[in-house]
Amino acid sequence: MELNRRTVIAGAAAAGIAATTLGGTAQAAPGHKPVREPFGRLADGTKVYRWSLENGGTRMKVLSYGGVVQRLEVPDRHGRYANVSLGFGDIGDYVAGSPYFGALIGRYGNRIGKGRFTLDGTSYQLSVNDGENSLHGGAQGFDKRVWDVEPFTRGADVGLHLHRTSLDGEMGYPGTLRTRVTYTLTRRGEWRIDYEATTDRATVVNLTSHVYWNLAGEGSGTIEDHELTIAAARYTPTDAGLIPTGELAGVAGTPFDFRRAKPVGRDLRAGHEQQVPAKGYDHNWVLDKGVTARPEHVATLRDPRSGRTLRIATDQPGLQFYSGNFLDGTLTGTGGRTYRQGDALCLETQHFPDSPNQAGFPSTVLRPGQTYRSTTLHTFGA
Ligand code: BGC
Repeated sequence: MELNRRTVIAGAAAAGIAATTLGGTAQAAPGHKPVREPFGRLADGTKVYRWSLENGGTRMKVLSYGGVVQRLEVPDRHGRYANVSLGFGDIGDYVAGSPYFGALIGRYGNRIGKGRFTLDGTSYQLSVNDGENSLHGGAQGFDKRVWDVEPFTRGADVGLHLHRTSLDGEMGYPGTLRTRVTYTLTRRGEWRIDYEATTDRATVVNLTSHVYWNLAGEGSGTIEDHELTIAAARYTPTDAGLIPTGELAGVAGTPFDFRRAKPVGRDLRAGHEQQVPAKGYDHNWVLDKGVTARPEHVATLRDPRSGRTLRIATDQPGLQFYSGNFLDGTLTGTGGRTYRQGDALCLETQHFPDSPNQAGFPSTVLRPGQTYRSTTLHTFGA
């Protein structure tokens, strides 16, 4: 049967795909090349840019500073857009003290105990910035660096390549690390992140993205009614400094069981001893699928009010679920509203925290000649 041209165009429009006609057949228009605009300067005069991307119904704004996702807009069940990612309207606020809003995290996502590890018989002391521990790459991690950004269109996909070379010894890490992170918005409106890195000396790497999600819209209040599913029967309990003890504990019968969709707030105040130092959830879930060659679905977040959903797929073995516990009403976000405890949550795909000191955890060692690769796919719905 030959499809009626108008039907095809209407269908494409309903799916949020821009339609064009070529010789009588409708096709998804290739996404437009990302557009760049100035977004202020750092104290040393370095210019920061903001890139706008749009494809398949998803809109996104990305800063050259920290690879920060400054805005991410998706429609609700009625087609109404909201910015579902916490952030600031001004570069000064990011520099003054952002809790990693929307940022790229490197060289090591989450904590390394006492900022120390030993590799091939050599001990390394990292930058310590969280009590006695090193968090998210140290005091000047990848989130606080300006990246080289190169836009691209590939078929119907659009995106940005973000490049950065981290010199040998930066924040105490061995090896010159050449990093390329690719943000792609697909023609279906998915946001895909591909991380790649190479080194000239043995080192450890664990890259992730630190978007704070509120599917009802940033600044709209708590995420405690968001329903979350995580395909993990175990998690990594921590000590008081949020460093894993090395144990892989079962979630069954605990507040950490998200194997079936559960409102985030349901067991948030359960008083489990693991929730006390974290002030809620701030743990790494051991994904049932383990390390996989390709991204597999591991988590679903749903806001019942707007109907918006986020599905996350990864090739990584872990997922850090952080329930925004340290947001304390001192920061005012993009929309001019204050962020309070639990006003967003993070779902960070990664290797387990403190892996360089935990022989039982999957390895995060990268050697010369090897390429670190990791992919995360975010699929939005309503
Ligand atoms: C960590 C939290 C930390 C937050 C930064 C999360 O990934 O697990 O402990 O406070 O990042 O705001």
